[in-house]
Amino acid sequence: MGKTSKDKRDIYYRRAKEEGWRARSAFKLLQIDNECHILDGVNKAVDLCAAPGSWSQVLSRRLNENYKKALETGNATPPKIVAIDLQAMAPLEGVIQIQGDITNINTANQIISHFDNEQADLVVCDGAPDVTGLHDMDIYIQSQLLLAALNITTHILRKGGTFVAKIFRAKDVTLLYAQLKIFFPYVYCTKPRSSRNSSIEAFVVCKDYSPPEGYKPHMLNPLLTHKPCDFDELTGINRVIVPFVVCGDLSQPDSDTCYPLDYEGKEYTYHEPVQTPIAPPYQEALSLLENRNTDFRRPDVSVVVDNFNSMTISDFKKQAKQTQKTINESKTESQGSRGNDSNEDVLELDKLMSTELSDKSTNKDGDKI
Ligand SMILES: C[S@@+](CC[C@H](N)C(=O)[O-])C[C@H]1O[C@@H](n2cnc3c(N)ncnc32)[C@H](O)[C@@H]1O
Repeated sequence: MGKTSKDKRDIYYRRAKEEGWRARSAFKLLQIDNECHILDGVNKAVDLCAAPGSWSQVLSRRLNENYKKALETGNATPPKIVAIDLQAMAPLEGVIQIQGDITNINTANQIISHFDNEQADLVVCDGAPDVTGLHDMDIYIQSQLLLAALNITTHILRKGGTFVAKIFRAKDVTLLYAQLKIFFPYVYCTKPRSSRNSSIEAFVVCKDYSPPEGYKPHMLNPLLTHKPCDFDELTGINRVIVPFVVCGDLSQPDSDTCYPLDYEGKEYTYHEPVQTPIAPPYQEALSLLENRNTDFRRPDVSVVVDNFNSMTISDFKKQAKQTQKTINESKTESQGSRGNDSNEDVLELDKLMSTELSDKSTNKDGDKI
């Protein structure tokens, strides 16, 4: 991918870099907040599945604003933000970071230990599994992440607090809504403008944490029954219809549309990502390229063709096969009379290719190589 191709495609990606957010996801939380006011008055928050950290940046900015406001009235405690992810995250000032799996009891206990005598006002979870492409599997793993997040939340969220989590709007999502409704009287499904319409991603906003009378949080709660649920059979209190809210003004850009680089009347300038990955899997390959001490060429490929702009792929394959055949035949004929000189093969192929290519003037298929 070229340096600017993603910039050209995605306005939220561009804006994130311009405004100093580590990821375009920041706009999802900001747009949810604009609509649902989830950050108003919040002093303690947990960011589950936080890397690379744009939601933590939003939390840090807003919680510090809340703190400054509270200082004016004289009654304020410094904000507290705990961020957790499987992946390492570059440090962020004022954010306590834990590296771990939120579905693992040890990580959950570590998070809970940070709230020993305190409770959080808000828990957010933007957790997404590495998608496998097997939709049922991906949806299942996503729902497990949400339930793990909910489980941790029941240990640390204060009564009346808010829980926001990514959800996949797919089959049986109503089962998840119903489970959330056990703990929160207000459950909304929101879709920020910055979340692509083509994605089944949405966010549940659950307000006013009110666990059932006598509920004791524990880590072994089998929240997902895995039994098929025919929603239409449910009636009365068991049938939960969750309101659907679109967040973000219609004047906000649509995340599925490509906008021109000067869309907002500004001259386009490329910005480096705010926070590059700290240990990407491709790091080794990059360092090899930088040192230029590795020869990536295949030793068995001895043909260099540099003038085939007007050829189609199928023409090229046909000609390459034919050329190879000719070379093989001539090799067989001359075996015994001279050695195998690969340079001659190159020259011979070049000669054949350039003769045939120079004759071509049009390209019907258009699939240039
Ligand atoms: C979409 S990203 C989060 C982006 C983040 N909200 C931000 O604004 O920068 C999803 C994250 O979920 C994390 N994740 C997935 N499964 C997890 C798990 N079981 N425990 C902790 N983190 C997990 C991934 O490592 C990934 O960083």
